[in-house]
Order: sequence, then C-alpha cells, then structure tokens
Amino acid sequence: MSKFHPLTIAQVRNETRDTIAVTFAVPPELRDSFQFQQGQHLTLRAKIGDEDVRRSYSICSAVQDGALRVAIKRTHGGLFSGWANDTLQAGQTLEVMPPMGHFNVPLDAANRKHYLAFAAGSGITPILSIIKTTLAAEPHSRFTLFYGNRASSSVIFRDELSDLKDTYMERLKLAYVMSREQQDIELFNGRITKEKAAQFLQHWVRAEDVDVAFICGPEDMMHGVSAALQEAGMPKANIKVELFAASIPKHTHQPRHASAAASAAHQQTEVTVIMDGNAASFTMEQDKESLLDAGLRAGLDMRYSCKGGVCSTCRCKVIEGKVDMDVNYALEDYEIARGYVLSCQSFPTTAKVVIDFDQAE
Ligand SMILES: Cc1cc2nc3c(=O)[nH]c(=O)nc-3n(C[C@H](O)[C@H](O)[C@H](O)COP(=O)(O)OP(=O)(O)OC[C@H]3O[C@@H](n4cnc5c(N)ncnc54)[C@H](O)[C@@H]3O)c2cc1C
Ligand code: FES
Repeated sequence: MSKFHPLTIAQVRNETRDTIAVTFAVPPELRDSFQFQQGQHLTLRAKIGDEDVRRSYSICSAVQDGALRVAIKRTHGGLFSGWANDTLQAGQTLEVMPPMGHFNVPLDAANRKHYLAFAAGSGITPILSIIKTTLAAEPHSRFTLFYGNRASSSVIFRDELSDLKDTYMERLKLAYVMSREQQDIELFNGRITKEKAAQFLQHWVRAEDVDVAFICGPEDMMHGVSAALQEAGMPKANIKVELFAASIPKHTHQPRHASAAASAAHQQTEVTVIMDGNAASFTMEQDKESLLDAGLRAGLDMRYSCKGGVCSTCRCKVIEGKVDMDVNYALEDYEIARGYVLSCQSFPTTAKVVIDFDQAE
C-alpha cells in the first residue's frame, strides 16, 4: 500500500480558470489497489526541478463512476498545484499512491439519512464524491450542501452540481455562499464562519434532523462550523472533518520535559516497523526527530506526504511501546483510542516501540 505506481493521465479538463480535473487510466492489474471509497484522497508525486514533491488530492468522482479523478486548484505561489496546472496533459505519467483516508461513513441502501456538508473552494472535491456516491447508493437518503466561494467564476464543479440537482431534485439541497458577489438572500453573502453556520442551523437546517455532517475547507472554517454544529446539539462523533491546508501549519517540536533537551541524546528507542508484511528495525534518539524522519534516515520507505500532521498518509498503529504526538489535524478520537498515530508527528517515549503500517487501513 505504501508504493507509488506510475499511472497514465487519460484526461485533463479545465474546471475553472485555476483548477484542472485530472482523470487517471488504471490498468487492469492495478484495479484492486486503486479501488476507492468516497471521500478518499491520492498522494501524487513528481520531480519538479530537483525536488521530489508529494501532495494529497481528493478523489472527486463517485465510486459508481468507474473513473479515478482528482481536481487540482492552483494555490498562489504553490509548487505542485502551479506545476500541475501549467504542465499536465493527457498521455503523461504521474506517480500515484493508492487511495487513503477515512473521510466517509459506511453506506447502506436501506438508510434514510439526512447528510449535511459544508465545503469551501477546492474543499468541494471529496464532498462531490461523497454526495454522488451516497445519493446513488442510498435511494432514501438526502443531502444538504453549503458551498462557499468568492464568486460564481471560481465555483468548481458548478455544472456537475447543477446536473446532480436535476437528477436528485427532491434529495439534494444546494446553497452557494459567495464572499465577493452579492446574492439576493443576505444570509448567503460572506464567508462560511461559525456565526454563518449557526444562522444556517437556525433558519435552514435543524441540527436534530441531521445524521452526519461533513466539513471540508481551511482550518478556521472547519473549526468554526464544527463548533456551531456541536453548539446546536450535534454529537462530535457525527461530524466528519477534512482539513485542506494549502500551507501546512508551521510547528516545531518542543522537548517534553525541561530536562529532556539535555538528556534526550542519551535516551534511545529501538523502533521496529512492520510494512508490507516485513519487519525492519532501527535505533533513534528520543525527542530529537519524528519516527518518520528517523525511519526515512534509516533507509526505510515509510509512506508520507505532508509531514505536517494533516494528510494522514503516514498513519500507522502502535502495537508496542508509547509515543507522543505533536500535532494532529487528521486522526479522529476513535482512531487515537485504537492506537493509531501519525508517524510524522510521533516521538517515542519508551525504550522499545513497534509500529505497524499494515493495520493502518
Ligand atoms: C487530505 C488532503 C486533501 C487535499 N485535496 C485537495 C484537492 O482535492 N484539491 C486541491 O487543490 N488541493 C487539495 N489539498 C491541498 C494540496 O495537497 C496542496 O497542499 C495544495 O495543492 C498546495 O500545494 P502546492 O505544492 O501547490 O503549494 P506549496 O508549494 O506547498 O505552497 C503552499 C502555500 O505556501 C506558500 N509557500 C510556499 N513556500 C513558501 C515559503 N518558502 N515561504 C512562505 N510561503 C510559502 C505558497 O505561496 C502557498 O500559498 C489537499 C490537502 C490534503 C491534506
Ligand atoms: S505525512 Fe501527512 S500527516 Fe504525516
């Protein structure tokens, strides 16, 4: 699962002025590896100049579509997204890691659920996959989407959403929120903030009628909407979030104890990594570097993308010993309770640690 595979690009389509949708051709021998669930993402890898660059992009197609597609929005000054928008063409090959992520809930044709989603900008990508997949798989369920953008011209998947609305008139409610384009209803002007979400929950959707809510966008929006939903009575366990951090929040590891900085050099941990059915070991100094950095330095091909606690590509399970995690924008409480950690953010605190990437699915 940690392997990258070269996939040929079947199609590149301009979605907006600064967003492309990229469809990959998956050869028959890789179909099983690239089976995905709605809301999952791919890690793409390319050599840009001299740099080995990896970035996560959510799948925007529905599970039933039989197509593997991502949308890449150009970030101002962004390395990968700029390169992709400028150069990618059908016929080219990209290194792609099989789908990962847990931004979804299990589906059942017998469900009669009401799902609610808040998306901002390119955050629509996994939400589109979730909405399309869910409405097709659960004929009695419905979806309400609040979708924030600057203006109509920057709305990604406008046509596809409009087609979906036509197909599912009764089961899909769609509201655009615009920050730089005046709309008739004042409530739909501005950015999606905690206050705005609270107003939607007062006037448009009753929190008690919602089974599961999905939020995808920048950090402040994600926290604000989640807080509004919880204040309106929704249990945190029913709120699924995916952070789309274009710039990974900056963080520097702080040694745990005041004395740790001085003594860290002497505290060693023997780490065993189980990956693709094999076990490999190395020794590292505690509190100096993350499990991921130490493993990569020891020559292990441990999987990662953002190295910032956001994408969850480096997720693994601690099966012996203990680690402390610095930041976590990716794992939910129930995953942490089951022993899952982000290796890019984990620092060992015991003399022996065993981590397993094969149990990470
Ligand atoms: C789970 C997940 C799913 C995602 N899905 C999508 C998706 O579907 N579609 C999508 O478009 N994006 C998605 N993203 C975001 C995506 O992974 C990238 O982060 C995004 O495309 C920006 O990458 P980049 O290489 O273009 O920008 P980077 O080069 O990483 O730069 C990011 C920002 O930092 C600034 N910056 C860069 N270098 C410096 C510097 N030295 N000093 C100061 N500032 C600097 C840049 O100006 C830019 O604003 C997702 C992220 C995650 C974690
Ligand atoms: S590599 Fe992205 S969370 Fe660790």
